[in-house]
Amino acid sequence: MTDTSFAQPLRIFLAGHQGMVGRALYRLLEQQPGIELLVRSRKELDLTRQADVEHFFAAEKPDWVIIAAAKVGGILANQNLPADFIYQNLMIEANIVHSSWQTGVKRLMLLGSSCIYPKFAEQPMQEECLLSGVLEPTNEPYAVAKIAGIKLCESYQRQFGSDFRSVMPTNLYGPWDNFHPEHSHVVPGLMRRLHDAVVEKAPAVSVWGSGKARREFLHVDDLAAAVWLVMQQTTEHYASLTSPQCSHINVGSGHDISIAELAVAIAEVVGFRGELLFDSAMPEGTPRKLLAVDKMTTLGWLPQITLRQGLKDTYQWWLAQQVVG
Ligand SMILES: NC(=O)c1ccc[n+]([C@@H]2O[C@H](COP(=O)([O-])OP(=O)(O)OC[C@H]3O[C@@H](n4cnc5c(N)ncnc54)[C@H](OP(=O)(O)O)[C@@H]3O)[C@@H](O)[C@H]2O)c1
Repeated sequence: MTDTSFAQPLRIFLAGHQGMVGRALYRLLEQQPGIELLVRSRKELDLTRQADVEHFFAAEKPDWVIIAAAKVGGILANQNLPADFIYQNLMIEANIVHSSWQTGVKRLMLLGSSCIYPKFAEQPMQEECLLSGVLEPTNEPYAVAKIAGIKLCESYQRQFGSDFRSVMPTNLYGPWDNFHPEHSHVVPGLMRRLHDAVVEKAPAVSVWGSGKARREFLHVDDLAAAVWLVMQQTTEHYASLTSPQCSHINVGSGHDISIAELAVAIAEVVGFRGELLFDSAMPEGTPRKLLAVDKMTTLGWLPQITLRQGLKDTYQWWLAQQVVG
């Protein structure tokens, strides 16, 4: 059901092209024929500024838009900067969605996150369980902004017939992930701490939480392929997979592992042979998070990169960055 009805070149505005997801999409899209990619760094266009975004859209008139720009971070960043997370994400989404509608963008894709689902949602989480229970408090402001993003797309679809879509990726990792010592997600955070422990010959490393929480991980290149596949579906086919009140699609690997298993896998990749000490006093978020991915598999999409291979590649990428830096 791939849509081939668009005139070429197709001008696609890729917002957030310098982030981990944006770069993966850029790598994929620059190889596709008939596409002209429009990109702006944050310095050139701050997407929280409404007048600047309106001016950009009016001048450039993209055909399609992908929103991979967002304020993103791990548990600690979400706890320390709740206002930044809700304000910046709401502004980026509202400005881009509204300007897209104003300037006649024909198709838009918003990237959300699996944290939109209730803390105790039935597993694996179907798209329909959105707004059926309380959210995980550690990242509630971020999740509320992401839910607002889905509802923005849905509302413009219902009121104006805009073809505005959204996908909800699970936890992602890969090249250009954020390895900040405090603001990173679990994969780069653990990778960096275990690497440092090897360098410093530390006998043990403490890991946040009991290690029992279960999470799903997807390599960012697999996500990029999924986003592009969903984006290429005809309006009718996308509508047949979704509904006017539940217009988003989950993207995940379909498998979860415990944080303890993840820590062991990363320790093997970086060569750490010491002890892993699980600190149950630290927050660990939702007990289990696994997405139901039936809609993606219906489209014929399956992840191509195993967690083990993806972790190895990500570590090699990060080591190479250390040398370059
Ligand atoms: N990472 C994950 O595990 C994960 C999981 C599920 C969903 N997602 C979703 O995927 C999307 C991308 O995430 P990511 O991991 O790629 O994040 P990222 O690496 O932090 O990239 C975000 C990008 O957005 C840009 N940006 C942020 N605020 C901006 C602003 N005001 N104006 C212009 N650009 C701005 C950043 O620019 P700078 O480079 O200048 O900061 C950066 O290039 C997000 O919607 C996120 O919710 C990510």
